[in-house]
Amino acid sequence: MHNITLIKGDGIGPEISDAVLKIIEASGVQINWDVQTAGADVIEIEGVPLPERVIDSVKKNKIALKSPVTTPIGKGFRSVNVQLRKELDLYANLRPCYNLPNVKTRYDGVDIVVVRENTEDLYAGIEHQVDEDTMESIKRITRSASERIAKFAFDYAVKNNRKFVTVVTKANICKLSDGLFLDSARNIAKNYNLPLKEILVDNCCMQLVQNPNQFDVLLLPNLYGDIVSDLCAGLIGGLGVAQGANIGNDYAVFEPVHGSAPDIAGQDKANPTAMLMSAIEMLNYIGEVEAGKKIKFALFDTLKSDIKTADLGGSVSCSKFTNEIISRL
Ligand code: NAI
Repeated sequence: MHNITLIKGDGIGPEISDAVLKIIEASGVQINWDVQTAGADVIEIEGVPLPERVIDSVKKNKIALKSPVTTPIGKGFRSVNVQLRKELDLYANLRPCYNLPNVKTRYDGVDIVVVRENTEDLYAGIEHQVDEDTMESIKRITRSASERIAKFAFDYAVKNNRKFVTVVTKANICKLSDGLFLDSARNIAKNYNLPLKEILVDNCCMQLVQNPNQFDVLLLPNLYGDIVSDLCAGLIGGLGVAQGANIGNDYAVFEPVHGSAPDIAGQDKANPTAMLMSAIEMLNYIGEVEAGKKIKFALFDTLKSDIKTADLGGSVSCSKFTNEIISRL
């Protein structure tokens, strides 16, 4: 029996987490879920969007599965997601991105791993008003955080037989901050027998759209990592299939790349694949490799049978898609 925290989130969060829980249960893995709520609804009852009990639960269980939590845009409370990553020092955001069977995309053979620094950059939330006309946000980059994420990217690359790492910056313009991130990657690369390639983020976006197969592991600071992750998701069929994990030295939180998708929430339309692929990685992480394989096989077989949600051009609901996966387990 594994003890794991489940953060159900909001928007499509509850629908996709219920789907994934049912599939995991049907696979036979025994998990004791510690269900925690966070976000706007929690503020009304507990006064804060991310109560201590959520952090304590992840600290106790070490592992969490999380679905998206809405962040108010241009006003309101700070992102629960960013807070959680900072509080638990989940410094590496790992987003493997590859084609799934029978999901129509512009390119075949996409196989990119995005490694995004998860604790600093513009996400440090250091903003202030200078005068009536001016707001400033501080882009904070440190050598220690840059070196540890570079080391994570290289360790991951070695362990997973990848060929090279590409560090992505705008160091021609942000000479000090991005310059430090680049310099840190160069320093760490010296300890490995793998090449480090370098590219500017604007060119990287263009190259990804024109020829994604030229990339292997991408190493990026927080903001570029966020944006490029969505671009990479678009290469493999969209946010409905893009998986992710936040990893630190002590804890790991597995969650899809996408947000709470308010436009389709509560309509049984959401694609649970991104959340399920994140959960499969979680199962691998806790040693339930066989169950992970079994679920992945059932998911891929469902897609191959042309049973797909609307975001992938299909017509089945989230619950029908879920039941089809379960029937194949
Ligand atoms: P989003 O990822 O929620 O949605 C973008 C588009 O993708 C929408 O058209 C949505 O319907 C579609 N989409 C996303 N996931 C899908 C799925 N599983 N199946 C089918 N279609 C899907 O991004 P958006 O609209 O920018 O953000 C909405 C909210 O989510 C914001 O408050 C944002 O801050 C939050 N957010 C939370 C994240 C997290 O909890 N880790 C990550 C990203 C955004």
